[in-house]
Amino acid sequence: MAYASSGTTVHPDATIDGVRRFCDQRPCNIRHSSEPIGTNVYFDQVEARKYMVGPHIPDFAEFPRWRGKKVLEVGRGIGTEGVNFARAGADYTGVAPIRLAYFDYGQTDPRVSK
Ligand SMILES: C[S@@+](CC[C@H](N)C(=O)[O-])C[C@H]1O[C@@H](n2cnc3c(N)ncnc32)[C@H](O)[C@@H]1O
Repeated sequence: MAYASSGTTVHPDATIDGVRRFCDQRPCNIRHSSEPIGTNVYFDQVEARKYMVGPHIPDFAEFPRWRGKKVLEVGRGIGTEGVNFARAGADYTGVAPIRLAYFDYGQTDPRVSK
């Protein structure tokens, strides 16, 4: 492991497959709740914790601004931002290299109709 001058950690031996495996096994924020994955309480807790730790994210994303617009998120993870774009009225599409079927709700994600 090496450290670039910007403070970024560099992993010269990392491979695309290695990154994909890592992301498959532990998508961002998946452990923000100990409730059963896929339940409303699980997603509510993940979202609450994520935006407590990263309150800048909703400010940066400006969800309401994208109402009626097409939004493409490359690297949608478990969909916390995707759901908020959709709730705010965006025509949201998210893509991800991860293959966790229980996060593949697309436009029918039950969190959107809350
Ligand atoms: C910070 S997370 C995004 C979190 C997401 N906004 C959410 O609400 O959960 C970054 C995501 O980018 C994905 N990613 C990493 N490299 C990628 C690539 N080359 N192409 C597409 N997605 C990628 C990772 O799998 C990860 O889920």
